[in-house]
Amino acid sequence: GTTLGASAAESGRYFGTAVANYKLSDATYSGILDREFNMITPENEMKWDATEPSQGSFNYSSADAIVAHANAHNQRMRGHALAWYSQQPPWAQGMEGTALRNAMVNHITNVATHYKGKIYAWDVVNEAFADGGGGGRRDSNLQRTGNDWIEVAFKTARAADPGAKLCYNDYNTDGVNAKSTGVYNMVKDFKARGVPIDCVGFQSHINSGSPLPSDYQANLQRFADLGVDVQITELDIQGSGTAQANSYATVVKSCLAVARCTGITVWGIRDSDSWRSGDTPLLFDNNGNKKAAYTSALNAL
Ligand code: XIL
Repeated sequence: GTTLGASAAESGRYFGTAVANYKLSDATYSGILDREFNMITPENEMKWDATEPSQGSFNYSSADAIVAHANAHNQRMRGHALAWYSQQPPWAQGMEGTALRNAMVNHITNVATHYKGKIYAWDVVNEAFADGGGGGRRDSNLQRTGNDWIEVAFKTARAADPGAKLCYNDYNTDGVNAKSTGVYNMVKDFKARGVPIDCVGFQSHINSGSPLPSDYQANLQRFADLGVDVQITELDIQGSGTAQANSYATVVKSCLAVARCTGITVWGIRDSDSWRSGDTPLLFDNNGNKKAAYTSALNAL
């Protein structure tokens, strides 16, 4: 294939990007988006603060605009994210206990129902594990409602949209380490007890502090062996030139080597679109030109 999306499709996979709704009117941006990518993750528009700015009052206008764009351009959607410690609306940030648990369930039910049938895969729970060597849960208001909050979130999402694949998504889980093993043990437990989970997302924000692990492919494979799909969900790689290009190729080849790795999403289009300001971690330069990393990723597909 001559584009990322078409080349990924040759092996039944997708190649996606994060999209910001306010950029869709930028012709360079949407031109690259519609030429190269066949999966879209809203960068912020489906998060709790965006979709439920006041409790019980839902606003889907920005996210709906992205879904409409995707429908018009034969792109599928990853939903991101139903339950997360970050980017909660102010009203939820101060909640706790049963009230917060009920608010979470109501939120998931409303959002997943609104998008029922339109989402390939949902990041049901995002970033629930702690960094460091403990392998345990991250402290958060959601975690303090009880350790079962994650399985409740997944069951609630399944009931609302039975056709969507339901993912757990996190960062610094890209190699075999204490954090990824904590997630691995949770997924294994969920599969054993019949808690609905279909996929695990590996954000893959690669930088000097968390370089590309040598066991990247082995880590994807051990999760796949639990009976879930795996996806690379927010890929960006710090650096430039040949080193960056080689790292992109390694990630692509790792996904292709794992039968249950269903697709790759980069977290933005041009370097200037990246959330990592001052960095150049993406596949297109600020002018929308293809970088060496683009050619390397395409050739690896
Ligand atoms: C980031 C967005 O890219 C930024 O625009 C926003 O200000 C903060 O969130 N992990 C995630 C994503 O799961 O939702 C985050 O996206 C990046 C880290």
